[in-house]
Amino acid sequence: MTNPIDNKIDKTLLPEIKKRRTFGIISHPDAGKTTLTEKLLLFGGAIQQAGAVKSRKAARAATSDFLSIEQERGISVSSSVMKFNYKDYEINLLDTPGHKDFSEDTYRVLTAVDCAVMIIDSAKGVEPQTQKLMEVCRMRNTPIITFINKLDREGLEPLDLFQEIEDKLQIECVPLTWPIGMGKRFKGVYNLEEQQLGIFTPGYTPKNDDGVLIKDLDDPMLDEMIGESLAHQLREDVALLSVAAEPFDIDLYLNGTQTPVFFGSAINNFGVREMLDAFVRIAPCPGMRPTATRDVDPAEAAFSGFTFKIQANMDPEHRDRIAFFRICSGKFTKGMKVRHHRIGKDIKIANATIFMAQERSNVEEAYPGDIIGIHNHGTIKIGDTFTTKEPLKFLGIPSFAPEHFRRVLLKDPLKAKSLTKGLTQLAEEGTIQVFRPLHGNMHIIGAVGVLQFDVTMARLKAEYNVNAGYEPIDLSVARWVECENESYFNDFIRRNESSLARDAEGRLTFMTTSEYQLGFTKEDWPDIEFHKTREHN
Ligand code: G4P
Repeated sequence: MTNPIDNKIDKTLLPEIKKRRTFGIISHPDAGKTTLTEKLLLFGGAIQQAGAVKSRKAARAATSDFLSIEQERGISVSSSVMKFNYKDYEINLLDTPGHKDFSEDTYRVLTAVDCAVMIIDSAKGVEPQTQKLMEVCRMRNTPIITFINKLDREGLEPLDLFQEIEDKLQIECVPLTWPIGMGKRFKGVYNLEEQQLGIFTPGYTPKNDDGVLIKDLDDPMLDEMIGESLAHQLREDVALLSVAAEPFDIDLYLNGTQTPVFFGSAINNFGVREMLDAFVRIAPCPGMRPTATRDVDPAEAAFSGFTFKIQANMDPEHRDRIAFFRICSGKFTKGMKVRHHRIGKDIKIANATIFMAQERSNVEEAYPGDIIGIHNHGTIKIGDTFTTKEPLKFLGIPSFAPEHFRRVLLKDPLKAKSLTKGLTQLAEEGTIQVFRPLHGNMHIIGAVGVLQFDVTMARLKAEYNVNAGYEPIDLSVARWVECENESYFNDFIRRNESSLARDAEGRLTFMTTSEYQLGFTKEDWPDIEFHKTREHN
């Protein structure tokens, strides 16, 4: 029996969709993501004081062994969701771990956003992690707004930064504000669109009506306000930009080829409001989402969405796991029944959670773009789709082939079952990937970054009471393998059994010591497809 397409539009959803913005921040560690997040939440009234985001991080870190790894190493391991309001908008900010070892998680978070803000440290320019994250954004043409941070310090010249962004990230920069000086001489930013001058006063958070309108840059008032030499420089810069810079084009921004650029200093809350105002105005609301069968319109009456992240131990009192679920269409209401297509059952979502900046609360209703947290006792995996009826499969929730591998050593043989359970669940969360070779009984764990191995061992101990360690194994490449020709595939499996394993979802994986070796195998077996990424089931 084929399922009917369930795509009737419900116009009453439109106002809710239009006011939603769901985004993530991409940056290299230390560029100022935590600081900017905090300022955005302050503007949204979601927190009352500076320091709340950091202290929240620290408080969480103290709650479990797993998170104390985060604290010890001074990185943000787990990402979360913060909802806040600004003007008439409802904004979902999805936090992304910045450390390179946790990039796979970050990649998946980026599949759940509609747009992103990229922070660049003005002294450091484009850094490696930003470059990697941009590659992911490019896969989905995610629109990006750029915030160049730390103008209160000496940094690179704005035009040199633009050149670097354009060269390394292949995205055209269009300034919407322009800095006046930098470091000790930093005087503020000039809003090129609104022709407003914002004067920087360290330690003072500018208010909405603080900007000074300067329609004509030749106005001598400019010299009085920022000094003759900087006024002269600003006039020259703006004259140059008017001929050299491309005009802002909303369509180019929306398809990810142009980025509007803002300058400021997050720690001083300077330039942030300008960016936020532009963000709510130009960033896209939830749009069409591709599935394996058709594109889903957010205004469809039928509910749909997907899980992009599973997180354990958010609440130390309850050792449960939360599935982070992005709503793609329809309206969520508390207690609603949805079809969990992978397991082929209807489930009732009675106690979904919405994440405000400092608290979680029970959600009564939610709309496309919103992220809800669903309590999960092992039945929800990354990539799972729930809909009212039609079986849909949202695309673009990738798993990346690990680059590092270890063999797991169980210290207490009686705990073999718990070890398998723990590793399976951690694999479902996407913390690590687990492989069982076709030959032998060992567990091989793979990760995109080595820090995950320590996190895995700490969590096995804390959550599953399993004492385990790991040792190196001579593997560095894994590829998921497929082939349409069954007998050819069986032949391949028979001749390569010692290099094959099954991942946690039972997918056949070819594992070897080097890219070089992989190349040989590919030559020998031209009809086999070797995949570096795969979609979740
Ligand atoms: P991250 O989440 O991207 O890793 O960066 P975070 O916001 O934690 O900022 C990294 C460091 O940069 C912090 O300093 C922060 O205070 C500083 N910072 C952020 N924005 C600005 C800015 O506009 N100007 C200047 N000068 N510094 C900025 P820290 O010393 O590492 O931490 P803390 O002791 O200040 O908390």
